Amino acid sequence: MKPSEALARYGTKTAAARALNLPMSTFRGRLEAEIRQAGGYAHPEPVSYEQPSRPLIFPDMPDRYEPIEDLLDRCSKHYQRERDYRDAANWQQIKVNDDLPIGIALMGDPHIDDPGCNIPLLRRDVEIIKETPGCYALNVGDYTNNWVGRLARLFGNQELSQASARRLVEWFLLESGMTWLAVILGNHDEWNEGGEIIRRMCASHVQIPVHDWQAKIELVFPNKEVCRINAAHDFKGRSMYTPLHGLKRETIWHQDGAHLMVAGHIHFGGIEQCELPGGHNPWLVRVRGYKEMDHHALVSGFHEGIQFPSVMAVVDPAAPPSERVMVFGSLAQGAAVLSSLRALRRASQAPGSAAKARRKSSKSRSQPSRGRKQSRSNRGASPSQGRNNKRAASQGRQSRSRQARA
Ligand SMILES: [Fe+2]
Repeated sequence: MKPSEALARYGTKTAAARALNLPMSTFRGRLEAEIRQAGGYAHPEPVSYEQPSRPLIFPDMPDRYEPIEDLLDRCSKHYQRERDYRDAANWQQIKVNDDLPIGIALMGDPHIDDPGCNIPLLRRDVEIIKETPGCYALNVGDYTNNWVGRLARLFGNQELSQASARRLVEWFLLESGMTWLAVILGNHDEWNEGGEIIRRMCASHVQIPVHDWQAKIELVFPNKEVCRINAAHDFKGRSMYTPLHGLKRETIWHQDGAHLMVAGHIHFGGIEQCELPGGHNPWLVRVRGYKEMDHHALVSGFHEGIQFPSVMAVVDPAAPPSERVMVFGSLAQGAAVLSSLRALRRASQAPGSAAKARRKSSKSRSQPSRGRKQSRSNRGASPSQGRNNKRAASQGRQSRSRQARA
């Protein structure tokens, strides 16, 4: 019996192979060979799907999707907006309205809803910033814990709800009375909708500049002097020997003239001023932040720092570029120096001040007066003027000799 006949009789290949007492693979091979010898499979007639009549007639519906050309146009506009924003944010120029020194309070990582957040220190710093004229706040991120994913279980370890956390952030950003130079978002803020909540919070109340991860700011003073600040939640690069490695790496690689580099993130602080080829000497600052008693640091074996929870950078537009920024590891100390410097500068600028008079007299000494210049050089004077000058000089000598004799 041919394989095709067995298949026709028994219905399935398995039953046919069993009836012929052949292994399945052999049966398949023989069946294929028989079909090939017979000229292959016979193709069925193509089925026509055309129906003689339409039993149901549907109405013509409008297209529910945006036409592709409109969608492409919209995407192009969105891209252009994003690019314009990126370009404008790259060394964003901020004008300062006078030439007095200013202070920038560098803060970081409050994690304000965490039980380890040093709230008394945070409140003290807020008071200092608020009460010190010319002092502005800059925070490098992580306003709340805002746990996400498997870390969301850690909400069970803290007293405060997310609702309370948002109220605290609202106080910190909007109601504490500090003037913000920059609000930077960290990794904890980017989780969930944290970043968007902070962005909307700041946009709806007062104009507070919110930056994603990094802020590159150029302060421009009326005397045309500038101070460049490159602040980010963190910069790429780690070293077991210094918490400032990432900042140094960034400043060496880019050499974009930043006077001050600032970061946070690792809850361990450090300050250094370095010199780059060419003599530029930026400050590198990593603030420790306000979160203490960090369980993650404990179990991971990270050293928990004590110093530099917040740092004060004093910017003096009247100083030469190499001395434009002074950094103080103590916010209170920096605020005291800032106030003294501003008072001194104000006094020296006041009309009739001794310092102003000293400056004026030193200026006049360094620039000879017109009369003195003229008497020193009579080459350009007329003959009669020269004679008059000589006469006056001789009269002066006679008078002095008379006084000496008397
Ligand atoms: Fe943090």
